[in-house]
Amino acid sequence: MAEYKLDINRKDMNDGDVRSVDVAGTKIALLVMDGTLYALQGYCTHEQGVLGDGYIDNKELVCPMHGGAFDIATGKANENTSWVTDISTYSVKADDITGDITVEI
Ligand code: FES
Repeated sequence: MAEYKLDINRKDMNDGDVRSVDVAGTKIALLVMDGTLYALQGYCTHEQGVLGDGYIDNKELVCPMHGGAFDIATGKANENTSWVTDISTYSVKADDITGDITVEI
């Protein structure tokens, strides 16, 4: 694992924002929920939907293609959307002062 600084700044993300970000050749979904920053696998386990183009609903990240849903904190697939399987989550943090975001991939 290595730590990467992202081009995007925490100060440019609002609560509820979901972004697709490429990090050293790996696509991630970066989002803010209830004031906390999260980074999850960028592609859906079903048909490779871009999860950074999805949206937050009831503490889940919802795939924009067929609605597969994943727990934002754990990456666990919602059993009601059984066509998807669990996704990875990544450690992410933002500097309180500069807003710089770093993620471990
Ligand atoms: S590609 Fe994500 S639910 Fe189908």
